Amino acid sequence: MYWSKLLVLALAQFVLASPHARRWDDLAVKHSWTEIPEGWVYHSAPSPSRLLDLRIGMKSHKMDDLITQLYEVSDPKHPKYGQYLSKEEVDALSAPHPDSVEAVEAWLQHHGVNPDEAIDRSGGGDWITLRIPVSVAERMLDTKYGVYHHLKSEDYIVRALSYSLPRELHSHINLVTPTTYFGTIRAMKSNSFVNPDIQVSKEAFVEDVNAPAALPPASCATTVTPACLKAFYNITGFSPVNPASQRIGIAGYLEEFGNRADLQTFLNQLLPASRGFTYTTTLINGGEDDQNDPGVEANLDIQYVVGMAAPIPVTYYSTGGRPPFIPDSTQSTNTNEPYLDWVNFVLAQSTIPTVFTTSYGENEQTIPLDYRQSVCDLFAKLTARGSTILFSSGDSGVGGGDCRTNDGRNRVQFQPAFPASCPFVTAVGGTTGLTETTIGFSGGGFSNTFARPAYQDTAVSRYLQILGNTNAGLFNTTGRAYPDLSAQANRFEVFVGGRAISVGGTSARNVQTVAGIVALINDVRISNGKGVLGFLNPLIYSDGVTGFNDIVTGSNPGCGTNGFPARAGWDPATGLGTPDFAKLRLLLG
Ligand SMILES: *[C@@H]1O[C@H](CO)[C@@H](O)[C@H](O)[C@H]1NC(C)=O
Ligand SMILES: *[C@@H]1O[C@H](CO)[C@@H](O)[C@H](O)[C@H]1NC(C)=O
Repeated sequence: MYWSKLLVLALAQFVLASPHARRWDDLAVKHSWTEIPEGWVYHSAPSPSRLLDLRIGMKSHKMDDLITQLYEVSDPKHPKYGQYLSKEEVDALSAPHPDSVEAVEAWLQHHGVNPDEAIDRSGGGDWITLRIPVSVAERMLDTKYGVYHHLKSEDYIVRALSYSLPRELHSHINLVTPTTYFGTIRAMKSNSFVNPDIQVSKEAFVEDVNAPAALPPASCATTVTPACLKAFYNITGFSPVNPASQRIGIAGYLEEFGNRADLQTFLNQLLPASRGFTYTTTLINGGEDDQNDPGVEANLDIQYVVGMAAPIPVTYYSTGGRPPFIPDSTQSTNTNEPYLDWVNFVLAQSTIPTVFTTSYGENEQTIPLDYRQSVCDLFAKLTARGSTILFSSGDSGVGGGDCRTNDGRNRVQFQPAFPASCPFVTAVGGTTGLTETTIGFSGGGFSNTFARPAYQDTAVSRYLQILGNTNAGLFNTTGRAYPDLSAQANRFEVFVGGRAISVGGTSARNVQTVAGIVALINDVRISNGKGVLGFLNPLIYSDGVTGFNDIVTGSNPGCGTNGFPARAGWDPATGLGTPDFAKLRLLLG
């Protein structure tokens, strides 16, 4: 009796202590939504044998070290300024701790998944992708996947409303996708709008490389062309002399294709000296390049980057196709995750563009917290390698729609935009007019995710003091504030399908202008034997960088308020202002 009781106790203890019985069954929720994300509806249960490309992002063991190094190489006062990290160095700092790898692989094996059969691994080993059936993913993540339908874009995706991980893995894994992030490139595509009632001016300002610099003519108030932008920003007459030393990358949309014939029409009409110049396309994850289906966004992005910076080479990255969705198919589902696909693709290249522009973005609160942090970390890795990464600050002022929070509390809050709110990218707001003023839709505000980085402490504290109680309670005073700078954002003349149209909405146009100017300053630096600018923010916020036209009028309304007013110095409507190339090249070239 006594002995058998002891034995039972011993057995019970053995069961409790057994790493396999307990380790992987002790789950804790990783992320969960209180409701289906806005714009999506449940459609059906996916076939259990449908394949998912499950991507696991492990914690980079030396991420803090990487951020420290990023700030050193980006701080103009630091001896290491401009000594960017190589792919190998970033990979080494991205690697997960061996304990993380051991734990994740043991967990995969427990579920019958062979980690050696990963279909993709990042250079640092921190991201691993496995092609597995939905039923296995559901067991691993203690979740139920559903097919969800986006009513506006008509996208279908396989996602979950919540997912869990063994408690032990929470300290090793940042993120598993696809799970609770419902974004797709099409669904989050910016609302670039064609101005149907605005005719592009017959007197559109055409570039004449032999003309002396002049003030922008009146036509630039109604029809913005590359020649206007060059006049606004004091670039007229400058031509890059080291084009082969750089490349500008444009991250493109799903099913948005640039059109080469339209680029030629644009150059013929507005920049005759650059006639014949073209760009390359890089296809990622089944991206396409359909020349019969020109997109407004893609054409605008390409035409204005080329318009500002030709003959510096330009690459358009076309990420991910959208195979027709067949509900009961077992084929691998389109698991494109807009940011993860292209950033991971680019990080895997040994040479990367010196300047990157991307036009998409969405409200922070629609993206799971861990996802925001993981993607922002990836941008840190990209900037550490010496790329300038530019994002539009958004098209909705301080927030579009009713601005209610989706945390179950339904409060009205300004809605910061991501990735603009990531402290490692440079966010670009919008202006308009011959005498530049804030354009009302210029996105701006304060992150609820990322704390204010030291580089903008002085500038932002100063603004908050001037602002006083305006908008108190509607935004987070401790968050990373944006935009960082701005540029013209409306009434751009773009050629689509051979025809000139007028396009507005901040995304892209302002970013492309700034991308061009950064590349031109890089060109001057290269001529002077210096490195490229890389991560701009620590530099442009530092004392003495006065190469911006301070925008002091207008505001960016939203959420039923007037938004933030532009003021002298940095403000969350137009940042530090618009770039003056002539001044910046003297200061930074
Ligand atoms: C405010 O921002 C900080 C980051 O600076 C964040 O940790 C905090 O959760 C935010 N507060 C709210 C209410 O979102
Ligand atoms: C830039 O152009 C403006 C006029 O558009 C002019 O007033 C200013 O002096 C120029 N800046 C430089 C540094 O040339």
